[in-house]
Amino acid sequence: MSYWQGLIHRYGPSLNIDGVDRPVSLHEGNTPLIPAPKLAEAICPGAEIFLKYEGLNPTGSFKDRGMTTAITQAQAQGAKAVVCASTGNTAASAAAYAARAGMKCLVIIPDGKIALGKLAGAIAYGATVVAIDGSFDDALNLVRDLESRIPIAVVNSVNPARLEGQKTAAWEVEDQLGRVPDWLSLPVGNAGNISAYWLGFIERGGARPRLLGTQAAGAAPLVLGHPVEKPETKATAIRIGKPARGDQALAAIRESNGILLAASDEEIFDAYRLVARLEGVFCEPSSAAGIAGLKKTYADHPDEFKGKQVVCVLTGNGLKDPDSVFEQETHLIRIPNDIEALVEVAK
Ligand code: F0G
Repeated sequence: MSYWQGLIHRYGPSLNIDGVDRPVSLHEGNTPLIPAPKLAEAICPGAEIFLKYEGLNPTGSFKDRGMTTAITQAQAQGAKAVVCASTGNTAASAAAYAARAGMKCLVIIPDGKIALGKLAGAIAYGATVVAIDGSFDDALNLVRDLESRIPIAVVNSVNPARLEGQKTAAWEVEDQLGRVPDWLSLPVGNAGNISAYWLGFIERGGARPRLLGTQAAGAAPLVLGHPVEKPETKATAIRIGKPARGDQALAAIRESNGILLAASDEEIFDAYRLVARLEGVFCEPSSAAGIAGLKKTYADHPDEFKGKQVVCVLTGNGLKDPDSVFEQETHLIRIPNDIEALVEVAK
């Protein structure tokens, strides 16, 4: 069959995991790279911007790339159950792939800080969902403790198999663009994704982009240089105070001659609205952190972007988080069932 059947089918021999002969796949990957000329004009004039729309993966985020590999390996190693800590997307993705593999899935989330569509996904796919009175970082500590107590496979990005899948996004970007972009901009939470992209570019062995990583200002441990005990941001996906792959991400940014910065919630939500309205691409708030970071970096260093190609990774689908729209936007216009009233609105 020649149609797209997912990452392991496409890249199996280049992925350092067990079980590539028996993939657990939802045909993830192969997401579009969408030109965004109006966004470029608005925030980074003189550059070309492309959006790597990872929200079009099967469960609506880039996590599916790492989950096909993590669950495939867990299955090959005989695991019957998997567990993850999550701000939401990892939970939904783990739940879906575990369902497909016939494994039990346990997810630990920070209570009250998960977007509705993510929680709905995790529940729909049949995971056991546990909410704790604590942060993502606390949840990840519990997961690591649990692993030492009972037989269960951890599928957070501390598991190297996750990065093996996620690195394929770098290869897709290069193949779709026909070259390696000058800049790659993305949000940073637990720092697995930026580490995975870097791994992908290194393994390809060719040119490398400069990495532009953006954290939310209230959850910016890597920018501050120390853990944040009580991370706070409305971009809940990246509300993380102790990134598990922080050191690896910092090394990647340094090696790439990149930039790491923080954007305020206001800047993140401005970017979130802008990309939807200018380009018709709806991402979740955390995904827009990379766009907010690009805008700020351009303002400080415009010469670094003249004539350059910039890829912004939109990590998750806006539909995951409907509440963020209703908090921000003017609501419905209610009218009687009457043509005159409608003409007034439509004029
Ligand atoms: N964007 C979205 C939409 C995310 O869900 C995440 C992380 C990130 C960016 C940051 O990626 O952690 O690799 O630096 N979400 C995790 C989760 C923590 O549990 O879903 P990272």
